[in-house]
Amino acid sequence: MNLVLIGFMGTGKSKIGKLLAGELGYEFVDTDLVIETECGLKIAEIFATKGEAFFRDLEHQLAQRLSGTDHQVIATGGGWVLNPANLELSSANGFIISLIAAPEIIYERIKAENHRPLLACEDPLAKIRQIMSQRANLYQKADLVMDTSEKTPEELTAVIIEALVKRGVINARS
Ligand code: S3P
Repeated sequence: MNLVLIGFMGTGKSKIGKLLAGELGYEFVDTDLVIETECGLKIAEIFATKGEAFFRDLEHQLAQRLSGTDHQVIATGGGWVLNPANLELSSANGFIISLIAAPEIIYERIKAENHRPLLACEDPLAKIRQIMSQRANLYQKADLVMDTSEKTPEELTAVIIEALVKRGVINARS
């Protein structure tokens, strides 16, 4: 069984994923990083030179490969949920955890960063609101939905582990 983190950009998938993997002794996989390493290009360069559809195709190929793995915490890119087949593959051998946060909080978290092609525009907050409302129902397609707005990654990791034990997804730890 894998743990698959889905959610909008800036919801803490990578940070919380690393913490969860460390706590549980699982391997951590960041799908954006795998794609960047395999392509030898940054995500922004892939979007600029090959287009978003090419990137989405690579994401889907990776979803197929990861569906045959075990004991991995997988932090997905924010658009993973756009292809229903990705979610189906992820849930075939994984427990899906969705991280959510208010647009204003996302904006505060990501405003100093510049590696996300979809938010490279004049008014990133408006763009966040727009994309988030288009995808809102997709981020609900999870076994567990966790609001990250008011807790630290460490607190959230502890709450998620507690929920996983309660649901019988992982064994109680001594
Ligand atoms: C995207 C989110 C990004 C990355 C790409 C597209 C999206 O990942 O995959 O820029 O469509 O929401 P993060 O959620 O890790 O920023």
